[in-house]
Amino acid sequence: MRLNDDLIATDIAAYLEKHEHKSLLRFITCGSVDDGKSTLIGRLLYDSKMIFEDQLASLESDSKKVGTQGENIDFALLVDGLAAEREQGITIDVAYRFFATDKRKFIVADTPGHEQYTRNMATGASTADVAILMVDARKGILTQTRRHSFITTLLGIRKLVVAVNKMDLVGYSEQVYEDIIEDFYAFADELATDLEIQPIPMSALEGVNITSRSNETDWYEGPSLMEYLETVPVGDKRLNAPFRMPVQWVNRPNLDFRGFSGQITAGTIKTGDRVKSMPSGKQSTIDRIVTATGDLEQGIAGQSVTLTLADEIDCSRGDVIVSADDPTEVSDQFQARILWMSESPLLPGRRYLLKIGSKTVTATVNAPKYGIDVNTLSDVPAKTLELNQIGVTTLSLDQAIPYDPYDVNREMGGFILIDRMTNDTVGLGLIDFALRRASNIHWQAMDMDRATLAEQKGQKPAVLWFTGLSGSGKSTIANALQKLLFAQGKHTFTLDGDNVRHGLNRDLGFTDADRVENIRRVANVARLMTDAGLITLVSFISPFRSERQMARNLMAEGEFIEVYVDTPIEVAEKRDVKGLYKKARAGEIKNFTGIDSPYEPPKDPEITIDTVNHTAEEAAQSIMDYLKEKGMLDI
Ligand code: ADX
Repeated sequence: MRLNDDLIATDIAAYLEKHEHKSLLRFITCGSVDDGKSTLIGRLLYDSKMIFEDQLASLESDSKKVGTQGENIDFALLVDGLAAEREQGITIDVAYRFFATDKRKFIVADTPGHEQYTRNMATGASTADVAILMVDARKGILTQTRRHSFITTLLGIRKLVVAVNKMDLVGYSEQVYEDIIEDFYAFADELATDLEIQPIPMSALEGVNITSRSNETDWYEGPSLMEYLETVPVGDKRLNAPFRMPVQWVNRPNLDFRGFSGQITAGTIKTGDRVKSMPSGKQSTIDRIVTATGDLEQGIAGQSVTLTLADEIDCSRGDVIVSADDPTEVSDQFQARILWMSESPLLPGRRYLLKIGSKTVTATVNAPKYGIDVNTLSDVPAKTLELNQIGVTTLSLDQAIPYDPYDVNREMGGFILIDRMTNDTVGLGLIDFALRRASNIHWQAMDMDRATLAEQKGQKPAVLWFTGLSGSGKSTIANALQKLLFAQGKHTFTLDGDNVRHGLNRDLGFTDADRVENIRRVANVARLMTDAGLITLVSFISPFRSERQMARNLMAEGEFIEVYVDTPIEVAEKRDVKGLYKKARAGEIKNFTGIDSPYEPPKDPEITIDTVNHTAEEAAQSIMDYLKEKGMLDI
């Protein structure tokens, strides 16, 4: 999962090339400005001479303006200044900074530290090898520290630096430091069993134990922060994993060359190796490993390459080329951990776009099994997920994808969820495992298929989907229409919101989430009824475009007819057939459509009914005319 890689790539490609021979360490700093995070990053950049001359000059004068004493440079000002600069051009919540020393090059993901920025932190953590947790020596381990530790380990980081900062303000006391570290270890035991923790006492402001070990803490025997960052091993796990390369594009400049381009996310590959293209599972052999600077004998994790294969096999963008000896599995149903990143809560049952590697599919996210309280690490009941909430849930995809569990391979098991209407990224997901039911439930083919059943009834199946406000006249018109169809010898059935809510959907109320589920169920029932050959009338408020679209997608082309009963709220409220508007205005009913719950009118319905100037019978007749005109009543 590399949310902002494109940005990084263009910004720093030239710089990276200069330091190509060095290994790259990605890390993230967690903490708030108050903990000295900006000061720390500023100092790392400064000490590695990564500040350009003009920035340095302006920094020195800015520091003077805000009254910094003597030679001291305000490093926090530098980092915050850079952040402000970036924000002008690009909307990005995570600032990636870059620096290098003689030994290594680094990318640091700097994310705002407040609680509402959990999603930014997760984004930064999803590509990092190491997390630096900032702890204020005067305050010790806070709820915030626990939250940051949980999210970084959730996102797969196993190397944590506990940076006990502001040691100067506690007189460089060994006891204070030891107490904090002991606290942290006690808590970390619950996080993960394979954590590598490096505590470091420091003062970012005074430069103590940042680039080199300081005499101020002569009782401390570990490395300085920079020594640690320069020497901690990285990337070995990825190199030793089975080979994986998601195909970003198929490179076919002429008929003689067909290569598959992408970045190797794990493992190594040599010419002559047997590979499979997933999900098809077709096998071939690596012919060439092509790069911009010439062919390679061997490609390794992290490299971008173009692979050519010995055989013409089916393989396109979004597929994954994997080791034939150790291929991925393929599934369309998963259990996953999801971090919700949107102001609008998760709507279980709604279909979202799911982007994993270079592939995008449609996914239905089911109701969470439970949520996780990031502060206490305990399970909590959750019906939905709000902004920054983490939950465990199952999801079903419209097609099978190759995958690895996130804990095995972040790129192959990490995904984002995108709202189909707004195109916003709304969630970050980590695949735990595929559901066994995905491979155990098969579609049962029936000899008496839907065409046969419809033919027996002498009709074409269809769904007439009535949508509109409560009291708009949906059910009255559906009722009149059903009589007309019946008179013509048609076989019909009406699904009505009020009635279905007495039985099948008795457990649902009127929250957004419940309405989504209400429509998901009734749309599937309607689909089954058309399979039985019936002309099905559905009369539900169905306030959301997204779910009406979902219902439409369930039906065959031309079989879904959206009937918008366009009665203005003033008219519906004046009629108030069931007395519900009065109650809603009095505050006795909550979440009432049109009052304190939204209604999204159809943009392009097949039929729009004006109930102000027409009776229900006239409306029904006009729908009959439409059906006749479209040949839907002929057989
Ligand atoms: S939907 O929004 O989920 O599609 P549905 O059509 O099933 O709604 O049910 C709507 C009916 O429930 C209304 O016609 C009305 O009789 C009743 N009702 C009770 N409470 C509400 C409410 N808060 N909002 C809308 N309808 C309500």
